[in-house]
Amino acid sequence: MITIAIDGHSSCGKSTMAKNLARELGYVYIDTGAMYRSVTYYAIQNGIIDAEGNIDTARLQQEMDNINISFKFNPQIGRPDTYLNGERVEDKIRTLEVSNHVSPIATLGFVREAMVAQQREMGKAKGVILDGRDIGTVVFPDAELKIFVTASAEIRAQRRYDELTAKGEECNYDDILKNVQERDYIDSHREISPLKQAEDAIVLDNSNMTIDEQQEWLLKLTKEVVSASE
Ligand code: DC
Repeated sequence: MITIAIDGHSSCGKSTMAKNLARELGYVYIDTGAMYRSVTYYAIQNGIIDAEGNIDTARLQQEMDNINISFKFNPQIGRPDTYLNGERVEDKIRTLEVSNHVSPIATLGFVREAMVAQQREMGKAKGVILDGRDIGTVVFPDAELKIFVTASAEIRAQRRYDELTAKGEECNYDDILKNVQERDYIDSHREISPLKQAEDAIVLDNSNMTIDEQQEWLLKLTKEVVSASE
């Protein structure tokens, strides 16, 4: 069993890739973006972020011990659901409101430290696939397989638009594109653990690939790496 790190830009299908690959291999899937989203959701619910988006960092830091995030496999959808302090928050953390506030939360050092510690604990037994921004560079720099996924901002915005519309959420393509571009900028320019390709990562630009094509490519590559590590 190996550790698989899937990093890359937001909304480029990392979680679909990771979820499907985990099912094929019988591995555990850890969606680290869901963890930063859960912290953000908690902060919004508890008035730690105000209407202008200002974060009361001192209060958030004090409350970090009260934020417990876990995953429970949901056989109906074939992937783990995210739980925050025992409450299923899987849909609540995917709204545009959470998306708009998550990048600043993910720049905070004390938030990252807490999340990285939990991710290392969850993944220490191997047989795991983690998706995020800093998995191959910071969380598991020794991962046997590292993929860096990207696609054009416009294609990613269209995919997120389709996803939200399918869920019945009202949204506007231009707002989503702006959100995607802003998050790219913040994620890549933050001081701590910025989004960057690990030197030994394999790049996948899936702008013009179907999910099936991407899955086939990934499974073939993974099988080669798994058999080389045995
Ligand atoms: O993958 P996502 O869109 O659900 O991630 C939400 C945000 O969390 C994203 O703006 C960047 C941040 N993030 C991070 O900083 N580090 C990770 N390992 C995963 C996500």
